[in-house]
Amino acid sequence: MSPYHALMPLPKAELHLHIEGTLEPELAFELAARNGVALRYPDTEALRQAYRFADLQSFLNLYYELMAVLRTERDFEDLANAYLARAAAQGVRHAEIFFDPQAHIARGVSMGTVVEGLWRALEKSRQNHGVSTRLILCFLRDESADSALTTLEAARPHLDRITGIGLDSAEAGHPPAKFREVYRAAADLGLHRVAHAGEEGPPAYITEALDVLGVERIDHGLRCAEDPALVERLVRDRVPLTLCPLSNVRLRAVDSLADHPLPALLDAGLMCTVNSDDPAYFGGYAGDNFDAVRDTLGLGEDRLRELARNSFLASFLEDDEELRAAYLAEVEAYVFP
Ligand code: ADE
Ligand code: ZN
Repeated sequence: MSPYHALMPLPKAELHLHIEGTLEPELAFELAARNGVALRYPDTEALRQAYRFADLQSFLNLYYELMAVLRTERDFEDLANAYLARAAAQGVRHAEIFFDPQAHIARGVSMGTVVEGLWRALEKSRQNHGVSTRLILCFLRDESADSALTTLEAARPHLDRITGIGLDSAEAGHPPAKFREVYRAAADLGLHRVAHAGEEGPPAYITEALDVLGVERIDHGLRCAEDPALVERLVRDRVPLTLCPLSNVRLRAVDSLADHPLPALLDAGLMCTVNSDDPAYFGGYAGDNFDAVRDTLGLGEDRLRELARNSFLASFLEDDEELRAAYLAEVEAYVFP
């Protein structure tokens, strides 16, 4: 990690952030005590020691296990407030936040508890943290298409809180096309659509997410670098990628940060953004990710400003273009230290 935090104040939007992935060990233990939930780790240090992942699945196993501590509206509110405070301290001005309702419903926690709990923090976020927010409901791609449809149905009473849908969890062997119907239904409801693709899965999943699901952004997408024709298409159509460099290192999608394709993708003309994914698990929030790519990949001020600009351009702020313009003006006015 960077010894000093040069890029914390650079105004940025975070477009790829799983709220369950912001559960820090301290809060996990606090919520476990509050809810009488037993964790199989004696303390926060022992839990942190478990944050060594071989791949996406080994991370997901722990990520789903720790969700057991989240039970009430207040828990989800506290989780979101903790994230928003940390994000604000790292220059995040706007956050589009993923949540995984199926993982909670399977544990007996209702859609209403999750959404309304998160909303209690989100509705006061501009006031309390200076961060505007949107909420994106993700379907688990290792669950069935029917389960996704049932989940969308369960979200109907809460759609005034929800801006879009996404697709996450174990990617390999779970191609996007399985979710054609639920993405069609979400489009008919006027929801934005994104999907994880090309994190561990092949470049063909990116193409499929665009062609079959009609997604407007690709979450991760780093494996597009393996397919020059796909890169050309993404550049031509200005499809944003929500890249997560520290996540890619921790989940071994790249051998090291120095090997990350971000500079090559920027040079190719792609609309890249930099995000934190699951910051409690991967060693850094949004500003930490910006610092890391500056320090390790040698990105200069023009590139860093471009990443910040892209984050607002790629955000779902079309219902508040005035706010987007204000954020973009903040980016242009930013003076690097
Ligand atoms: N759920 C939380 N983080 C994820 C990631 N990086 N990829 C897929 N699913 C996720
Ligand atoms: Zn993710």
